[in-house]
Amino acid sequence: MQILQLIRDRFRVVLEPMLQDPALLGATLERIVPSREAQLADYQANIAMPLQKVLGKPPLEIAKSVVDGLQVSDICSNVSIAGAGYINLRLSPEWMASEVMAADRDERLGVGRVSQPKTAIIDYSSPNVAKPMHVGHIRSTVIGDAISKVMRFLGHRVITDNHLGDWGTQFGMIIYGYKHFRDEGRYAAQPVAELSRLYRKVQGISGYQESLGNLPKFEQGVEQAHNRVRMVEEKLQGTPNDKKVIKELAAAQRGVEVAKEELRAEREKVESAQRDEELIRDSQAHSNIYEKVLAETAALHRGEEENLGLWHAFLPNCKDEIHSVYRRLNVEFDHEYGESFYHAMLPAVVEELFAKSMAVNSDGAVCVFLDGFDAPMIVQKQDGAYLYATTDLATAMFREREFAPDISLYVVDHRQGEHFTKLFAVLKKLGYDRTDFRHISFGTVMGSDGKPFKTRSGSTVGLESMLDEAVSRAMEVVCDPTTGASGQMDQAEQQLIAETVGLGAIKYADLCHNRTSNYIFDMDKMVRLEGNTSAYIQYSYARIKSILRKAEEKGWGESSFRSVPVRLTEGSEGGVSLHLLRFEDMLHQSMVDYTPNMITEYLYELAKLFSSFYDQCSVLNASTREEALSRLQLTSLVGKTLRKGLELLGIGVVDRM
Ligand code: ARG
Repeated sequence: MQILQLIRDRFRVVLEPMLQDPALLGATLERIVPSREAQLADYQANIAMPLQKVLGKPPLEIAKSVVDGLQVSDICSNVSIAGAGYINLRLSPEWMASEVMAADRDERLGVGRVSQPKTAIIDYSSPNVAKPMHVGHIRSTVIGDAISKVMRFLGHRVITDNHLGDWGTQFGMIIYGYKHFRDEGRYAAQPVAELSRLYRKVQGISGYQESLGNLPKFEQGVEQAHNRVRMVEEKLQGTPNDKKVIKELAAAQRGVEVAKEELRAEREKVESAQRDEELIRDSQAHSNIYEKVLAETAALHRGEEENLGLWHAFLPNCKDEIHSVYRRLNVEFDHEYGESFYHAMLPAVVEELFAKSMAVNSDGAVCVFLDGFDAPMIVQKQDGAYLYATTDLATAMFREREFAPDISLYVVDHRQGEHFTKLFAVLKKLGYDRTDFRHISFGTVMGSDGKPFKTRSGSTVGLESMLDEAVSRAMEVVCDPTTGASGQMDQAEQQLIAETVGLGAIKYADLCHNRTSNYIFDMDKMVRLEGNTSAYIQYSYARIKSILRKAEEKGWGESSFRSVPVRLTEGSEGGVSLHLLRFEDMLHQSMVDYTPNMITEYLYELAKLFSSFYDQCSVLNASTREEALSRLQLTSLVGKTLRKGLELLGIGVVDRM
């Protein structure tokens, strides 16, 4: 049931003859919205005032003539005009009751399928496989999975693709590491752990050498900042009271602080590395390691036998590791082409860019210059190597040929914003303007120290132990043997509950924050039974299940409560019903800007509304059997809606907790 659409359609009938301009009609209909003040109205149409000029009539008169023509008596119990011409609508309890009944009997809970399905390709998760996966990839996985599920449920054709980074410099790192530092025994016993160690080792050496190389630059930076202060000070001597120059001086002095801080941070990196004797020894023996890593990567890309052989040997192990995380999170993809899949297509991409006069040679590199950007997009380096951007161009072109998507979403963290803006600009220039390309950007997961959250070892294994921790915390919170239902549960059931609540907590935390903002990863808060948490919603669901079980014991099972009509008499019943009937509107709304937090907000609100309904209205002990059965139907639909909503977010429920 899309209530908003229904109401707008009724207004359209009246407004269409009054307004000739379709754009104006559209904009006017957009001004019909759910009311923010529940005590005044369920829906409000603020249309009369803006039409005053166009129609040349006072708003009150416009509102009156709209209301006169409006046919909503089947769905509204009251239509009134307030103030200078606001139209207030109150839905009729009878109509809402019949819609609640219909939704409760429908396996889709009354949610329709879109009449014009779109093809959407969703690129999410997409970790770099030889590198330890981090929480950012979990966030991409969770958000991408939720978006895919909701779009599918609404009837769109959704294709999911995990764009694995299986071809980049990180492989050069482990190939180099494998050739020079491997421990045969460890590799045989635990290949992924050993590859991870090799990756970190090479990365560590390379990072140290980079920082060491940066020091003179940062020292110079401090020097320059000081010079600037001196310059401004001299200027100020000539014009001691010039406010602009005084400001300039303050800025220059801040510049010194910033430069000093940069130098200090870089020195600290170097000093902390220097405390690691092994690292220093390795660094001396492997100077300019990053260049060597690039050479290994280039050899792989050239198809050189040894490196390609190692890549083939490493890849399945790396993938297994990542797949175990997906199994745990219960996430699947339609495709997992990965970057390597596109390698052979890259020369053709560059050729096409030349053929369309979009690429130019600049200092030996192939670049695409774009209006509005300082730096070009580099698609091939001087040494012939292709880049991340080249692969993304090839990927998008392949997807166009293969799937002809209407929508193409990239669920990737916000730091890649510029990459995607450029990518989309180039694609548009190439003529792919039929597709709505979007970067579904998300913020960083922060630790309580205000720095980006890192799992203890920063590894995939660390990620799994993070999931384990969430599960064991959930166990403490929901399965306290001294309280409630958990006393009667066996261990297997407790484990299942803890798993559902723990993993739900991690996913919900990723989803309930506005996706573009950073959020602080706080395990204690996530598993709490109160507040905007998955546990609270799962708990509400379990409570409803318990009510329905008790009803069943009284002989009031589903078939019996469905035999009586729903009657909405109390305010809290109306509140819950209205919210239930907004489910479909909310799902559509959440896909306008792909904001799953609208779904968590909706579910949280539903759980709270149910709780106040349950406080105010007796269900099992209602004054009449009819009233009890009517309220049970409402209860049942709330339960199903909570379950469906969580399911769309990839989160499970349990029947008791
Ligand atoms: N592998 C990249 C990373 O870990 C993300 C890839 C996102 N998808 C894409 N088509 N660029 O940062």
